[in-house]
Amino acid sequence: MCGIIGYIGPKQVTTLLVEGLRRLEYRGYDSAGVAVITNPSSPSSTRELQIVRCRGKLSELEGQLAGAAPQGNVGIGHTRWATHGRPSDENAHPHRFESVAVVHNGIIENYLSLKRSLSERGHSFSSETDTEIIAHLIWEELQRVAPGPDRLLTATQRALKHLEGAYAVVVLCTDTPDEVVCAKSASPLVLGLGDGENLIASDVPALLPHTRRVIFLEEGDLAQLTREKVRVIGLDGVERKRPERVITWSLLAAEKAGYKHFMLKEIFEQPRAVTDTLRGRLSHAPADALLDGYDIDPSKVKRLFVLACGTSFHASLVGKYLIEALARIPVEVDLASEFRYRDPIVSSGDLVVAVSQSGETADTLAAIREAQKKGAQIFSIANVVDSSIPRTSQHSLYTHAGPEIGVASTKAFTTQLVALALLALHLGRRSGRLSEEAAQAFVHDLTSLPAKLTQVLQTAEQLQQLARTYGHCRDMLYLGRGPQFPIALEGALKLKEISYIHAEGYAAGEMKHGPIALIDEGLPVLVLAPHDGGYEKVLSNLSEVKARGGHVIAITTEGDHSLRTLADHVIEVPAVHPLLAPIITVVPLQLFAYYVADFKGTDVDQPRNLAKSVTVE
Ligand code: G6P
Repeated sequence: MCGIIGYIGPKQVTTLLVEGLRRLEYRGYDSAGVAVITNPSSPSSTRELQIVRCRGKLSELEGQLAGAAPQGNVGIGHTRWATHGRPSDENAHPHRFESVAVVHNGIIENYLSLKRSLSERGHSFSSETDTEIIAHLIWEELQRVAPGPDRLLTATQRALKHLEGAYAVVVLCTDTPDEVVCAKSASPLVLGLGDGENLIASDVPALLPHTRRVIFLEEGDLAQLTREKVRVIGLDGVERKRPERVITWSLLAAEKAGYKHFMLKEIFEQPRAVTDTLRGRLSHAPADALLDGYDIDPSKVKRLFVLACGTSFHASLVGKYLIEALARIPVEVDLASEFRYRDPIVSSGDLVVAVSQSGETADTLAAIREAQKKGAQIFSIANVVDSSIPRTSQHSLYTHAGPEIGVASTKAFTTQLVALALLALHLGRRSGRLSEEAAQAFVHDLTSLPAKLTQVLQTAEQLQQLARTYGHCRDMLYLGRGPQFPIALEGALKLKEISYIHAEGYAAGEMKHGPIALIDEGLPVLVLAPHDGGYEKVLSNLSEVKARGGHVIAITTEGDHSLRTLADHVIEVPAVHPLLAPIITVVPLQLFAYYVADFKGTDVDQPRNLAKSVTVE
């Protein structure tokens, strides 16, 4: 998730771009840059495209620009959150080829094959990014378009037809200094309409100092910005009418896209985040998962460990169910903080999977170093590209969830589950234990997840009501079986973290061995009961709770009839493969925790005593 800004008008553009980028920093930053056309009104021979970019925070870029800011009034800027290629000066945007400069947010799925064919046509590249090829493709098309008012627009439109994946891209060209062109597919872009000036940005906050009149671009839109007007067309070249809106949000509300807290925004981002985790990693015929060029031969894996902390540990527990069911390989899941101190029995031939949102958690890092010292191979699943854990690993699979700002992890968790499902599918196919037919069904359900997540988010209002009913309680119990057991743990953790209510997650079958003593008329019990192999057993556990006066909130598959008479409240979620159901059933628990905390008025995004990234022991 990068931040993009573009401007054409009368103002000095460099300062304007940097200020805009500052307002987009919440989208993540590991590098930043600007490109400016200097002398735009002079003959083409004296026009220049000046690019300043570097690794690090925006302040690094400002340091480089001090006293040497490119002078001009047409430009583009970018803060990067790395996806392809580590954070470095060379991989920072804008990327340039000849007269064309581009900034990009998203992932180009077919960039390797495009890069290969460009190389065969004599192009060479100076970065590891997928973005750079866009500049090359547009430049090639530009050579085929006759000079005229729409030259850059037409060349961009033609070039984009080669791309598969997600992009928000903004293009600048010294041959056409009176236009800026942008396009959107799956990544956000919004036009800002000014007086004698126009802007483009990935999000509204960057536009607010200049205008409140905006146009949100839609899928497949291209827009041409000149000083006087903006024009929107489709990839087919046909004009598109997009409504103009006036933004009334404050700046802070705009950063949160109108949501009250980052956590709520991130919960609602999950359909998009999961789409990005899956992007380019599924094959349909034969059904398979591709792990970004990493191929694991299960016959060479002696033992498989999964190590993590906090929410990532709960994702790892679900990973055990996934891998054992699909690949029939035994998996040992461990808290990294425990693993590192018990002289673990691990050696060469073992595969250690580290799961971490930040990629910086001290315990997880120390645990994999210990395992590595003993000869194990490390495979990490992380969200922050090039963070310490992936850098220490032999291979990494990034979740591409975008920066997570709320301390309580939500979209990082669901995307970790998707990454673990991809790993399980990969191992199942390589080990021969997962048939083509079963793999097809699994791939089908993986692909259906974003739509089902969108559907489950519609339960938000119901959960807000429940939060008002139960928000005053002192304790809560969460129960689940099989792959829903870790979801019970995660639901309880979410509630504890942000509402400070004591909550316990338990395997439903263990209830009779202790927690049943807690149940009385005041205790709310959240029961995970989707239609899977454990459903009937969960129903009996639930009856035991009811018989003792507990209040039951059940989360089950839509169309369920049995629970309506047994539970006090039923939340229905869409049906999906039982091993993927945790990705769906956790969402109502996230929403419940959020609304309880909001009801209580706690600091949702920065709960007391907690840190987003724990880099100390
Ligand atoms: C902290 C965060 C948790 C997170 C845990 C592990 O405790 O508050 O939300 O789950 O660290 O972090 P990681 O970045 O390794 O996933």
